[in-house]
Amino acid sequence: MTQIEAYIAEHEQRFLEDLKGWLRIPSISTLPEYAADVRRAAEYAASQLRSIGLDNVRLIETQGHPLVYGEWLKAAGRPTLLIYGHYDVQPVDPIELWQTPPFEPTIRGENLYCRGACDDKGQTMLVFKALETLITTEGGLPVNVRVLIEGEEEAGGESIEHYVRSYPERLNCDAAFICDTHMPAPDLPALISGLRGIIYTEVEARGAVRDLHSGTYGGIAPNPFHALALIIAGLKDARGHIHIPGLYDRQREAPPQEQRFWQEDPLHLAETLREEMGVAQLSGEPEYPPLQRIWARPTLEIHGFVGGFSGEGAKTVIPANGKVKISMRIPPDLGLKAEEVYRLFERRVKELAPPDVEVTVHKIHAGEGVLVSPEAPVIRAASAALKETYGREPVFIREGGSIPVAALFNDILQVPIVLMGFGLPDDNLHSPNEKYSLKQFFRGVRTVARFLQLYGAGA
Ligand code: BES
Ligand code: MN
Ligand code: MN
Repeated sequence: MTQIEAYIAEHEQRFLEDLKGWLRIPSISTLPEYAADVRRAAEYAASQLRSIGLDNVRLIETQGHPLVYGEWLKAAGRPTLLIYGHYDVQPVDPIELWQTPPFEPTIRGENLYCRGACDDKGQTMLVFKALETLITTEGGLPVNVRVLIEGEEEAGGESIEHYVRSYPERLNCDAAFICDTHMPAPDLPALISGLRGIIYTEVEARGAVRDLHSGTYGGIAPNPFHALALIIAGLKDARGHIHIPGLYDRQREAPPQEQRFWQEDPLHLAETLREEMGVAQLSGEPEYPPLQRIWARPTLEIHGFVGGFSGEGAKTVIPANGKVKISMRIPPDLGLKAEEVYRLFERRVKELAPPDVEVTVHKIHAGEGVLVSPEAPVIRAASAALKETYGREPVFIREGGSIPVAALFNDILQVPIVLMGFGLPDDNLHSPNEKYSLKQFFRGVRTVARFLQLYGAGA
């Protein structure tokens, strides 16, 4: 056993306690009533960074939730790594489906259950613990490090975008490391080669000045929900094709090697996902392979309808207003910025709106996708570290989700990005009973410590 492994083994329980303390804070960034908890979670992260020995640790105030910053810049002549994570979490509803309360970290079997257990407190904490392990056992870090932790990732990440654009010099680095992704299976390490961008919108339809009796007015009254149904049906058809003029005008083909991987799916990823979803067949565009559909094709999803009557029983009413939340995922392959997709979307919604309602479109947030080139030394170091801890070469695959800050680091700071995470596909991100595998957590600590060593050694 190396000294590093021994330290991790010896401090296992405390590492978990430190994580649990963070998990108990309900830092739901998107719900305003949790703002004080979000700040407490930021302070918790800062105290962790101080206790592991980082310098200049502080909260950076923003228009929204604070950023947390810390640095360790004493590795003269070595590269500087910018480390990113997020301390905010998604809402917990439907709460009745949680087996144990969402903010009470509970170990069942080999997993730790809690909102944020994986996304992203668990994954961020394992990076903190890797830093602690190196600083304590080696007396310092093999590379320079700047740590920047965000509290608005799940709400669109506006503040970090503003910060990165305003003060790129404060984030001066040679590479960025984001620990907020998955691997396909516990024995199959992965580095993520691409992420999709996203636009998140609200479409509102307004009819009469007030709710109406559906008998007295039915036949002459506008119905905002029916109008929204027509709009939705016009945006995407039954075979999963999105009908937005201009969306495919600048589409690019992926390299043949990647297309072959999608076609052949040698790791049977699509079948695994189908089983996890508990469905008999996959949805979506039948002429594209499933992996292409989740990684490199755009999506248009309805997240919820707001308004109207949804109580028990019957109420014969024609609602005056209706609202629907719609997002689109935007693969880099489309060659369009998120903002451009939003404008096309808005135009199409207006065009589909029936004339008897007033329709408005509102953008909640937007973020760009990213493609990672496998060439950079920092990627090779991450790959070698994964190979050491997992005993096999990582796969280099895309992920269909979005981490907007990755594109920002790439475009504004102009550095290579390492997307290396230890989540598993069944971690229930954003769902009830989110969990993190304890084994993955500790393997993550070891892998990240090794990654920093190899990166520092120029391997
Ligand atoms: N960690 C996720 C992204 C992710 C999901 C990576 C699944 C790997 C597998 C991140 O926290 C997230 O949920 N991002 C949002 C972005 C959005 C709110 C701007 C997403 O993808 O919905
Ligand atoms: Mn995340
Ligand atoms: Mn998330």
